[in-house]
Amino acid sequence: MCGIIGYVGSDQVAPILTSGLKNLEYRGYDSAGVALADDVLSIHKREGTIDDLTVPESTATCGIGHTRWSTHGPPTDTNSHPHTDCTGEIAVVHNGIIDNYDALKADLEAAGHEFDSDTDTEVIPHLLEEALERYGLPTAVSRVVDRLEGSFALGVVAAGRDEIVAARNDSPLVVGHADDGAFIASDVTAFVEHTRDVSYLEDGDVAHLDGGDVRVYNDGQRVDRPIQTVDWGADAAEKGGYDHYMLKEIHEQPQALRQAISGRIDAVAGEADLELSLPEQYLASLDEIQIVACGTSYHAGLYAKRLLERHAEVRTTVKIASEYAFSPSRDPWRTLVIAVTQSGETADTLGAMRRASRAGAKTLAVTNTVGSTAAREADDALYIRAGPEIGVAATKTFASQVATLALLSVYVGRTRGTLSSSDASDLLEHLRGLPGAVQQVLDEEPRVRTVATEYADGDAFFFVGRRLGHPVALEGALKLKEISYDHAEGFAAGELKHGPLALVTGETPVFAILTDGTSPDETLNNVKEVESRSAPVVGVSSLERAEKFLDASFSVPELGLLEPLVANVYLQLIAYHVANSKGRAIDKPRNLAKSVTVE
Ligand code: G6P
Repeated sequence: MCGIIGYVGSDQVAPILTSGLKNLEYRGYDSAGVALADDVLSIHKREGTIDDLTVPESTATCGIGHTRWSTHGPPTDTNSHPHTDCTGEIAVVHNGIIDNYDALKADLEAAGHEFDSDTDTEVIPHLLEEALERYGLPTAVSRVVDRLEGSFALGVVAAGRDEIVAARNDSPLVVGHADDGAFIASDVTAFVEHTRDVSYLEDGDVAHLDGGDVRVYNDGQRVDRPIQTVDWGADAAEKGGYDHYMLKEIHEQPQALRQAISGRIDAVAGEADLELSLPEQYLASLDEIQIVACGTSYHAGLYAKRLLERHAEVRTTVKIASEYAFSPSRDPWRTLVIAVTQSGETADTLGAMRRASRAGAKTLAVTNTVGSTAAREADDALYIRAGPEIGVAATKTFASQVATLALLSVYVGRTRGTLSSSDASDLLEHLRGLPGAVQQVLDEEPRVRTVATEYADGDAFFFVGRRLGHPVALEGALKLKEISYDHAEGFAAGELKHGPLALVTGETPVFAILTDGTSPDETLNNVKEVESRSAPVVGVSSLERAEKFLDASFSVPELGLLEPLVANVYLQLIAYHVANSKGRAIDKPRNLAKSVTVE
């Protein structure tokens, strides 16, 4: 979703903005632009990719840039950011939605302001135009922000002023601190090649970047936002020889999983050490866990539900965050709401978390992003430690989410006395075996590519599984549809005969998950049902006797309840190679965004 980058300092800003925008591409966008603030302001923006955008050489050392993912108004040159006021001396980039822009625009038009675009954002520079007549830039931005309703991260520059003012409410914004200047950005990836020292703005903050000097205000008071150093560098956000980030990230899974479990497992004692601050007494007295999430994270939540119910004997429900209404079965304070979110910035998930929190529930964020809104707002945070994920289609973070939630199920189960140390040891041993098992799957990639290419022209693709195989079937289908644009659906295998079977023909490859934890024998009956309707069936299986019923089969190493998670890696590779054989834009699929910061 929209991305912001800004720099003010002693270096020329144009190349910094262009490379920052490139680094933000993965968030998803349809137009891009920059404002270079010298004695005059020069704006360069257009619909299309950053490669289509020409930014001229300039001596300016202050500027802002933006990637736009359209909400108000189609992707056109005019609707692209930055937006300016009537004088063309103030430029604004914005991520989020201004809910009251209609009323503000009517007032501004009545006062003689002329608008060019269809966007909600354009009210901001016009409001600033009036405020700047009376105040300096930081105060003017504070006054204008007070009038805005909705969610926003803003960057503002003006002609002849070597300063940036940024503001945040509900949309992510970080500040980067370098020796020769300072940055603002939607996330650290945008400027990590220049500095790893960052501070995270909070809602209501207005930051004034005056060269390298950064001052942050909230409600008129100066506030301190401590500088933290991120523990990864620019190379973690590069392709490293792979054709696509997605493929690189699929191959990073063994390492990501090692990071997720590192220092958190005592397999001999059967204990997981997660350094949670939620009191053990509280976890022991829980009535219920509610998981809220979107997309791939929702599928990780579905997987975790079964592990939590089994190991911690606590009723667990999983809700799509945008559909969530908090309704605890008993006491709100005995309900733990877990927000599973890679980015920690998904608006729907944050909204669900806030509703639960307001109603008195405790919240835990399971996230990849240190300093994210979810991590900061939740009562506690558990990091999945996957490293940066750039491909829009989530891969390694799904594996790391499930592994981390599996650890959580052991931790809560041991705390509640519902999981014996020997059962815990078994699961923890399986978690230790996970990186190696995933590597075995990755080593099979040439064969997966052959099978993917063979079936790539199917009319539609179905994925079926039971129990822990169901979320994996849903995730397999999501990956394929996201990046190949083919019709793909995941079903609980038992549901096939209640409808989807009508769609099955000889041109609809069916992928079946037949591992431990997925009732493979029952699913095998469903495999026979689709085969007798002449559909080709590809099995991802740890069941040797299944092979004779399958047109192609991939073997999953023995790993108990984590076998379906390993099976998922085959499905990721299938999706990748089907999409790649069709030449799709794998890392930036059409219409999709990595970080969805609007509801
Ligand atoms: C978007 C992304 C998905 C992701 C979902 C939830 O739709 O394209 O890959 O699963 O958001 O994101 P989150 O950051 O909350 O896990």
